[in-house]
Amino acid sequence: MFSLPNRATIIEVGPRDGLQNEKMQVDTDVKLEFIRRLAESGISEMELTSFVSPKWVPQMKDAKDIVQQAAAVSRPIVLAPNSKGVELALEAGAEAIAVFVGVSNTFNQKNINRSTEESVEALAPVIGELKAQGKFVRACISTAFYCPYEGKIEVEDVMELCRKFVALGVDELSVADTVGMANPVGSYELFSRLQQAFPSVLLAAHFHDTRKMALANIFAALQAGITRFDSAAGGLGGCPFADGATGNVATEDVVNMLDALGIGTGIRVKDVCRAVEVIAPHVSRPIETGMYRLFENGRI
Ligand code: HMG
Ligand code: MG
Repeated sequence: MFSLPNRATIIEVGPRDGLQNEKMQVDTDVKLEFIRRLAESGISEMELTSFVSPKWVPQMKDAKDIVQQAAAVSRPIVLAPNSKGVELALEAGAEAIAVFVGVSNTFNQKNINRSTEESVEALAPVIGELKAQGKFVRACISTAFYCPYEGKIEVEDVMELCRKFVALGVDELSVADTVGMANPVGSYELFSRLQQAFPSVLLAAHFHDTRKMALANIFAALQAGITRFDSAAGGLGGCPFADGATGNVATEDVVNMLDALGIGTGIRVKDVCRAVEVIAPHVSRPIETGMYRLFENGRI
């Protein structure tokens, strides 16, 4: 029969991945209320924002205010692509930093304006310094299944990039299906390999739901022993530099599935929907997740 854990952890990425692709500028106060309600729903780990170039991603230009004013999240994480981003994140008081690099060189070039190799080289001393200061470091590995520019990505290339980050001492790898092309067999295969190869780091799976296979992919990753999942409330999200990337798998739908499987997360679906209610009027895409629809109809 299926092998399922008793507990799993959700890393909420709605305030970061969820909003970075949103063309309407969302007020800082609205973002803070979204974050507050997400924390109230029982979410303990959350990517709050990114310290990236405001010319590249204007939506994240209030990163400093977000970090300084978002209270009540027990492990707030911020993204930073380079030493400048890390410097600004530390100045703002961040304790946990996520760096991000694509397996696909073409994607990395479009996203960070550097080759994958250049990014890893530049990040190596930065990660060393963060670890020397006792910070938590997450490495987000993009295009781990498929690249919109280069096509299918080989498992061995993902393993190789992950090996480099593990050698640099990161605490966690978040391995991503950036444009939502993975299927459950591929998810099981990659996450089994990662689980076997890197038992000493935390491993998270980050699925976008472009083709509605994210829940199936999560179920497959659970079978491979993964218990940490990135998701975004309301199914918001997408990377502005990955053609065809749409929303992340929705937190409320993942938690509902895990509840149904008897896997505890400490998160209340209805309260996640209350957080979605705050952000829904401020984003240009309709919120069409299964559990949010039931919530709107008074069914949960
Ligand atoms: P660049 O133009 O090559 O930057 O962009 P540069 O190093 O040449 O510097 C140019 C100017 O930008 C300088 O200022 C720097 O100080 C400044 P100037 O001297 O002209 O006044 N600068 C910065 N400012 C603020 N924050 C910084 C920073 N760095 C340099 N960190 C850069 C390179 C990396 C900055 C740019 O490409 C960038 O910001 N990219 C971010 C793209 C992004 O946010 N993508 C989405 C997140 S990744 C993702 O969504 C995937 C994930 O969800 C997993 C998945 O699904 O795959 C994680
Ligand atoms: Mg993403």
